[in-house]
Amino acid sequence: MKHAPFLSDQLCDIQGMLNSGFGWLTNSRFLLLTIGEERQEQARKWLFEIAKSNLMISAKRVKDRKKNQEKPIREVVAIAFSFSGLAKLGLKETSNHPFPTPFRSGMGSALRESLLRDVPREWRWSDVEGFSSRQAVHVLVAQWWLADAEPRMPPPDPDAFSTITTVENRPESFRKDGKLYEPFGFRDGIAQPVIRGLRDEEGGNPNRVKQDAGTLYEDRVIDPGEFVLGYRNQYDELTYTPDLEHWAESGRATHPGGRFTLNGSYLAVRQIEQNVKAFEAFEKANGEVICAKLMGRSKDGLPLSWKGPPNARVSDSTADAFRYQVDDADGFMCPKGAHIRRMNPRDSLGVDVKSGVKSSKLHRLLRRGRPYLELSEDDDRREGLFFIACNADLERQFEFMHQRWMRNFRFVNLDHEDDPVVGSPKAPKMFTIPGLPSGGQISLETLTRSRGGGYFFLPGIKAFEFIVGYGGLSLES
Ligand code: HEM
Repeated sequence: MKHAPFLSDQLCDIQGMLNSGFGWLTNSRFLLLTIGEERQEQARKWLFEIAKSNLMISAKRVKDRKKNQEKPIREVVAIAFSFSGLAKLGLKETSNHPFPTPFRSGMGSALRESLLRDVPREWRWSDVEGFSSRQAVHVLVAQWWLADAEPRMPPPDPDAFSTITTVENRPESFRKDGKLYEPFGFRDGIAQPVIRGLRDEEGGNPNRVKQDAGTLYEDRVIDPGEFVLGYRNQYDELTYTPDLEHWAESGRATHPGGRFTLNGSYLAVRQIEQNVKAFEAFEKANGEVICAKLMGRSKDGLPLSWKGPPNARVSDSTADAFRYQVDDADGFMCPKGAHIRRMNPRDSLGVDVKSGVKSSKLHRLLRRGRPYLELSEDDDRREGLFFIACNADLERQFEFMHQRWMRNFRFVNLDHEDDPVVGSPKAPKMFTIPGLPSGGQISLETLTRSRGGGYFFLPGIKAFEFIVGYGGLSLES
């Protein structure tokens, strides 16, 4: 492909979760499905029902939401496939344009284990086949709906799927004043990239959002090829779009809509359990200010370099308009190893501010996860974050950030410590806080552990219709 397609012409084909986190749809659940032995036909039938239901909405529909008030979006379903899931349903890649290695091998593979500093043997599920102790997930379904609505999505057919795992969000536990909080009690979902031509800042009038961010607005504007396959990325190159040779199913033609993966994205997914009791004990012993230093924001979402009145209620755009190099180069406000400073060092890793911002823009994620809560019969709580990050290049985005920033024991000038919130189970649990009267480093317990993880391909809507054999009809009709 020599020329990038125009994004504006393709919005009908891009799944809506790439331009919205559906904040107004307070209820959500994630389904992890394993297609049973010789049950591909039944699985496809169920997926076909979803295709017919109009629940998979496009980025265009999301973009026009405000103009289209008479047809409000009350429920959305997004569907993605692991490589083993695509292969099981019939995918045969071309030898010229195969899927990239991280996706083919899978997040739960031995190949990714040391790179991501994980212990996937302990997980309950992954994207890799061949482990009897772990569910091999073929299909990931994300469902969001309005609190007062009965969800319409037909439940997965137990005849098609040998294992169906549901990870449920309970909004009453994780929302205050309409805003999302993760289980340790911090506001989440503030810092997100603005995708040129696709996603504006959510929930605000675009002019107001720009005004609130002031001169720092451009720091968060990212080219679409960082998140959607087939478009220009931050290198001004077209993102690689793998293709298929044919679909291994009798009577099925090759995908008619050009490259099979155009308008798709990859999802890096993790079920991360949070040890809320350990966090609360830590907070009791050390106080809320130190807890905020671990995360890099105060619990209400204000940045630690905030100079306005304490507890001010500001827009997300204002709360995300800050840099590190000028105001907080040594980390006296936000420590260099804090979760958000590792995950987006903003301007701080370049020789100057401009080069720092430029290089951080090569490693951004669009976060779409939600907290979850499992209650057992005896009311034992297991809670955490069902983390989903959309990106177009798993190696340069999710994996780079995981390996070089989040779980790097020598990130910047730190030594022997990794992310205080989502560090490796194998890492020494220390955390450096410059200016601490009791000395620089404190020790921590392991606060989170992964219970499962996988890479999934989120197809464009035409490619999804093709996979499930819904050819010809438009989902938007
Ligand atoms: C249970 C696990 C996690 C918790 C509790 C958590 C919590 C948070 C919180 C409270 C924020 C600040 C709110 C915001 O800026 O939107 C944040 C930001 C962020 N997190 Fe996490 N997170 C977790 C796991 C992860 C993982 C696994 C990754 C990526 C590999 C990640 C990547 C990010 C990024 C990119 C940001 C935005 C940073 C910025 O732009 O300033 N998080 N997280």
